[in-house]
Formats: sequence, structure tokens, C-alpha cells
Amino acid sequence: MKHKGRYGDYGGYYVPEVLIGVLEELEEAFDRFRDDPAFVAELAELSTHYAGRPTPLYHAKRFSQHVGFRVYLKREDLLHGGAHKVNNTLGQGLLAKYMGKTKLIAETGAGQHGLATAMIGALLGMETKIFMGVTDVERQSVNVHKMKLCGAEVVPVEGATGTLKDAINDALRYWTAHVTDTFYLFGTAAGPHPYPTIVRHFQTCIGIEARRQCIEQAGRLPDLVLACIGGGSNAIGIFAGFLDDKDVKLIGVEAGGRGLRTGQHAASLVAGTPGILHGARAYLLQDENGQVLDTESVSAGLDYPAVGPEHCYLKDTGRAEYVAAEDEEVLETFGLLARIEGILPALESTHALAYVAGLKGKLDPDTVVLVNLSGRGDKDVGIVEQHRPLT
Ligand SMILES: Cc1ncc(COP(=O)(O)O)c(C=O)c1O
Repeated sequence: MKHKGRYGDYGGYYVPEVLIGVLEELEEAFDRFRDDPAFVAELAELSTHYAGRPTPLYHAKRFSQHVGFRVYLKREDLLHGGAHKVNNTLGQGLLAKYMGKTKLIAETGAGQHGLATAMIGALLGMETKIFMGVTDVERQSVNVHKMKLCGAEVVPVEGATGTLKDAINDALRYWTAHVTDTFYLFGTAAGPHPYPTIVRHFQTCIGIEARRQCIEQAGRLPDLVLACIGGGSNAIGIFAGFLDDKDVKLIGVEAGGRGLRTGQHAASLVAGTPGILHGARAYLLQDENGQVLDTESVSAGLDYPAVGPEHCYLKDTGRAEYVAAEDEEVLETFGLLARIEGILPALESTHALAYVAGLKGKLDPDTVVLVNLSGRGDKDVGIVEQHRPLT
């Protein structure tokens, strides 16, 4: 491979030999098509007319009043499918088409990436198979129905916790046996090289737009940019727009809530140590023998024990800071945003909002805070109702 996909000590491609050739083929295709005029034009056309880009930047005035500083929301929740995931599935789906592949597979946690892949499978006329942990199939059932309506097959995966980690394990296993005609449409900026690079590329539109919109609307760059972190794709997408703006502080918010069954949170950057999972070296929640810990979060999309390699590098270099939000404050903030802004945020995105809510009264009123609202919370209404029944 020409470049090894390293971010400092992190990244790489620790995969079975059978996948090396396919990953090389993928890297070559990405290098060839990313700037190909026909590819770029088709992606731009679909991003605008199918997905709904550019997304608005919204000055949340009542939320701002509540916290005491200026909060702007980048409305990725308004995209087709309800989350930022479509930015990546359009890009990789087209790449699959240009490579001559006829079948798509993907893993999913919250079902948003699965849905976004199923949509693109339907759009491009490709047979689509989505691997999803059994716990997630149950708690994100609305998305399971939507995927099936788009013609995808949903494969429930048992595994240790029946969540995203198990889904990726099975998707990788399946891919190993079906590499010739099948494209693995990976859902986050993690996994083996070249996926972190590819997913970052297709999500960078968030940061590029947000930077321009913030200057237009707030009159200057933000002081803080925040995003939630599962594998790290929406966060790297928005951070990428501001990495060179040294005065802009970047904060990634992980799932700090501990589930009753395992007592384990999913904050791999905050509490993990370097190790190897799903083909890459990254911060990982593991025991002293290197066994990966079972995580448990109220938010299916953040319920993952590892994270993308670039975030590990940004943490070590100090360019970004990583913190965690607890389930209780997340549920509280979900209700707050619904009541005072009329917006139901995805529980994933609510982690970033909850951290901002926790800064109430602590920042200068002129502070400009930009939050990536990565998805909408329609899929989470049942979960919120279980924890906070309406009277
Ligand atoms: C709405 C939403 N936001 C965030 C995430 C977390 O993924 P990532 O860290 O790759 O953005 C998910 C994952 O399912 C999601 O559905």
C-alpha cells in the first residue's frame, strides 16, 4: 500500500491476508475516483437533490438563552434518512458502482448507517445486506423496518452484547468469504485503512459548510466545536473544517453512561488504552489481558468499545479534547431541546448537547459554540419514553 493510513501510532490495517488485496483495490479506486470529474459531479448532484445538502446552521436562541452563551446547531438531522450517515453512504455507494461491484454489505448500531446504506442500495439497484446486533435490532426497530422497506436484508447478530462490535465482526467475516462482488460500506471513520481516510473525506462537507455558515451568521469563527463520538465520523467531519484554526477548541463527547447489565460505559478515548480491534490500532476499552470489554450505552450509535485512529492522534497531540456525558444528563437534555426548541435530537447527538448544557453559566455570553446535530431522535422516542414516561 502506498500510504499506510497511520495517524501517529494509530490506524493501519491489521486484517486477515485475504482482505489485504481488497483493501488495496479499495484504496486505489478511492485515489482514482475521488477527484474524477464524473464521480465528483454525480456525488454533488445526489448530495444536493437526494440527500439535501447544504444543511442549515441554526442559531438555537432559546437554548442559548438557557445556557447563557451563543449556540449554533449544524442540522445534519435534516438530511434524508435523518443523520449524517448519508454523506458517507452516497460517496462509498458511488465508489462501489464505479468499481463495478454489485452487492453492498454494512454494519449498523443505531440503524442510521444501515438505513443510509439500504437507501443507497435501493437508489443504485444493488443487493444490500445489513448486519445488526440483536440488542440493537430490538431497541432501534423503527430503523429495521425502514431498512427492510428499502429492500435490504437485515441479519441479526448474537455475539457478546448484540451491539455494534458484534455486527462489525460478522460483517468482516462475511466479507472475507465474498470479496469478489461485494463492497463493504463501512459506517464510521474507524476500521482498517483506507476506511478512516475514505469516511473522513465524505464527511468533511459538514465542517466546510459549518465554517462558512458560522462566519456568515455569527460574524466569526466559533470558540468551541462539539460533536458526539461513536466511531468518530460525524466528529471528524465537522472537526476537519477547523483543524487549522488553532484558536477553535474541538471537543468530542463520548458515552459515559454505564448500563445496568455490564456496569461498563463506552468512553474509549476518555478511559481506554491503545490496542487493536476491527483492523486498526486505536484507544480501546479492554481488560489487562487485552480482552475487549462489553459496553452499554443508552445510545446504540455510541455503544462501541473503540474509536477511529485520527481521534486517538488528536487526543495525544492535544488538538482535540475528549469528554463523556452520562445517560441521565443526556435524557434530560433530550427533553429540554424538545421543549424549548421543538427539536428531537438523536440520543447520540444529545451527548454533545448535554455537555454544552453542563457549561451553563460557565462561559462568557459572547462565546460562540457550534454543535453538530448529527441526527434526529425519532428512532429514540420509545427509549426516552421507557426512561422518562410522559405524564
Ligand atoms: C445520529 C448519529 N450520530 C452519531 C453516531 C455515531 O457515529 P459516528 O461517531 O461515526 O458519527 C451515530 C451512529 O449510529 C448516529 O446514528
